[in-house]
Amino acid sequence: MKTKILMVCLGNICRSPLAEGILASKLDPTKFLVDSAGTAGYHAGELPDRRSIATARQHGFDISYQRSRKFVRNDFQTFDYIFAMDQSNYNNILSLAETEADRKKVHMILNQISPNSNAEVPDPYYGGDQGFENVYQMLDEACSIFAEKIS
Ligand code: 4NP
Repeated sequence: MKTKILMVCLGNICRSPLAEGILASKLDPTKFLVDSAGTAGYHAGELPDRRSIATARQHGFDISYQRSRKFVRNDFQTFDYIFAMDQSNYNNILSLAETEADRKKVHMILNQISPNSNAEVPDPYYGGDQGFENVYQMLDEACSIFAEKIS
C-alpha cells in the first residue's frame, strides 16, 4: 500500500498545488501518492492559478493536470499525512477531525523546517509573481526534509 500525503490550503489553486507538485517530484510514485485540497470549495474544478503553474514550470515540473477540490472529512480515512499551509487551514482541518488518530495526521508544513514554530506559508493570491517564488522556496525546503525522512 502506498503512503498517502495531502497538501491543504484555502482555495487549492495557489499554495497546495505547488506543494503537491514539489513533493511528488521528490518521491517514488510507486510507493507514495500525493494529492492536494482546499478548505474552501469556491475554486472547485479549476486549474491551479496561472502563476503557480508558471512557477512550477520555471522549476522544471508541470502542475497543470491538477484540478481544485474541497477538503472532505473522508480525507482523514484516505491519507496518512495531512499538511496545512497556515494556521487557519490547520484549524479548519481539525474542526472536521473526529478521532485522536485523525488529529495526529495533521501538521503545519513549515514545521518540517523549524519544528514547533508553526510558521505559515503566506497566501500569495493577492500579491505579485515574487510571492509565488517565495512560496516555492519555502515549500521546496520543507518537502526536501519530509521526503528525506519518509523515503
Ligand atoms: P490558496 O490561495 O489558498 O493558496 O489556493 C487562495 C486562492 C484563492 C483565494 C484565497 C486564497 N480566494 O479568496 O479566492
